[in-house]
Amino acid sequence: RKNMIIAIDGYSSCGKSTVAKALAKHLNYVYIDSGAMYRAVTLYFIQNDIDHQQPDQVAKALTEIHIEIHTERGANKYFLNGTVVNDDIREMRVSELVSEVSAIKAVRTAMVAQQKRMGANKNIVMDGRDIGTAVFPNAQIKIFMTADPQIRAERRYKELQNAGKMITIEEVIANLAYRDHQDTTRKESPLTKADDAVVLDTSSMNQQEQLEFVLNEVKNAS
Ligand code: C5P
Repeated sequence: RKNMIIAIDGYSSCGKSTVAKALAKHLNYVYIDSGAMYRAVTLYFIQNDIDHQQPDQVAKALTEIHIEIHTERGANKYFLNGTVVNDDIREMRVSELVSEVSAIKAVRTAMVAQQKRMGANKNIVMDGRDIGTAVFPNAQIKIFMTADPQIRAERRYKELQNAGKMITIEEVIANLAYRDHQDTTRKESPLTKADDAVVLDTSSMNQQEQLEFVLNEVKNAS
């Protein structure tokens, strides 16, 4: 069967990409991080001084942005106009702007169209904010992830520290709260649980337990 779609949505830093990656590896599915695509657009805007509040500039920029995802030895590489941007898109300046950029209708239309193409005739796991609601409303499996905000901030803080980023826990807490607020209150496909999504609260679950939870959902659905 070659059109199984597993949609994983939820708040920032709940562990979506970690469980999605593990799941894709386990099932031998393609993994796509849709947030990385919005981050790549945001990076392009920063690098090219695009004012995201100017529709003309946004429209022109969108014609110039080419995002590709290649899987090499099990790891995804995200390309922005031919350059690998995996590290650059995780920078704080991108995290601070991405929720504003991703709220723009033209940006979402372009990304959603590409995401739909990526999922055609493939078995995929895609994570994001609107995958089960807007990108693949017919996905066979929909997971909605959440976790206690303090626990999410601590996990993210450790991750950033391990990556050598100079950042305080307060900055991380503020950024998560800001993005959650923007993402849930925006007009264009806000973050919300699809009616048929299963809630996964990861507050007191380790990665193995999260993977088993989702694998169990996959088993029940097939
Ligand atoms: O998943 P990640 O936290 O990297 O996503 C970064 C931002 O991209 C989110 O805070 C949200 O504003 C936006 N996003 C979105 N729709 C998606 C995935 C991400 O609006 N499907």
